[in-house]
Amino acid sequence: MVLGVGGGIAAYKACELLRRLTESGHRVRVVPTAEALRFVGEPTWAALSGQPVDTGVWDRVHEVPHVRIGQSADLVFVAPATANILAKAAAGLADDLLTNTLLTARCPVVFAPAMHTEMWEHPATQANVATLRARGAIVLDPAVGRLTGADTGRGRLPEPTELFEAARLVLRRGVGGTDLAGRRVVISAGGTREAIDPVRFIGNHSSGRQGYALARTAAARGADVTLVAANVSLPDPAGVDLVRVSSAVELAEAMEAERRGADAVVMTAAVADFRPVTSAASKIKKSGSAPAPIELVENPDILAGLVTTREREGEAQTIVGFAAETDDVIPNGRAKLARKGCDLLVVNQVGGGRAFGTDDNQATVLAADGAVVDIPTGPKEDLADRVWDLVAERLPARVR
Ligand code: CTP
Repeated sequence: MVLGVGGGIAAYKACELLRRLTESGHRVRVVPTAEALRFVGEPTWAALSGQPVDTGVWDRVHEVPHVRIGQSADLVFVAPATANILAKAAAGLADDLLTNTLLTARCPVVFAPAMHTEMWEHPATQANVATLRARGAIVLDPAVGRLTGADTGRGRLPEPTELFEAARLVLRRGVGGTDLAGRRVVISAGGTREAIDPVRFIGNHSSGRQGYALARTAAARGADVTLVAANVSLPDPAGVDLVRVSSAVELAEAMEAERRGADAVVMTAAVADFRPVTSAASKIKKSGSAPAPIELVENPDILAGLVTTREREGEAQTIVGFAAETDDVIPNGRAKLARKGCDLLVVNQVGGGRAFGTDDNQATVLAADGAVVDIPTGPKEDLADRVWDLVAERLPARVR
């Protein structure tokens, strides 16, 4: 693969990405811009990749590198992609080795932009990003956080571990793998917490791993992804908009706001069915007498509510639920699918160490159109990809 490196301070993070790629067996040719070498020198890239490093088209001309490197790549990953690189790529300029490589590559191309918020938000940059996405490139939205100086905002390069995950997932799909390009998807993940008092809550064991796997795989398939996370302590996936919530009511509000205009909505979050009627303002103390019972009230059914809103607004949107069952898995799943009114219900068996907090999962997907699909035990990202296959089949044809 080709690691293109732009002239931004985040170039130092690309060293860690390179290291992870080579350690996992990938052959990586680093193609920095001349400006990138002002931040991280050629010997670093050469030593970490074990390959020659050129920036211009006039080195090793007999090997015709300006076409050969792009033609022979399985993936071109540009990190950091500066505003300048995005502009050149969108315009089709070819004034150095990296831009030549971008024009000759026929493999998947991923840009991981990093720049100051103003540069990212500028209409020129946004127009370039839209052009690149429309041509099939994956442009990962930058993360929100600390930028070069004391300022914070959108524009940060996602963490190298997550860039590595994105590269791995795009590589494994190969050419034509970006079937969700131009689609917006919203995913809920994690488990809600219902406050009893300022230090205690009613919660559940959901780790958020399945929802995060759905977010990562959707981003690798080119989707614009919003992930609504309830109490998840996993690394932020690259290129995914993250909205953090805690309680079921907050999750319901976030999902109703984010669902607008989305092509697909997937509810993997484990939602508490009930919440305490009141949350004590101060920590509840042992009083010496019998503990006071906690009075509960039912939470809204968010999934059923999403289906109702879709029907009311007449939107073409595919809605997916997840069901964790301990007994009578399929009959319970069928009844739940009918009750919730969603298009797909991914039913998995939990308890006895299965599913919660593990990397593997298995499921049976029940569809409102009658289809039944068994997904064998495997990594949560395999299950996620199968779910997206089933969603992609049901998405209405895109109106361009
Ligand atoms: N769900 C929801 N809102 C709730 C409860 C569940 O949106 N208040 C969603 C979950 O995110 C999941 C699906 O509904 O996608 C099924 O969740 P599950 O907990 O299995 O369903 P329940 O309706 O709680 O059914 P039961 O407790 O009877 O098993």
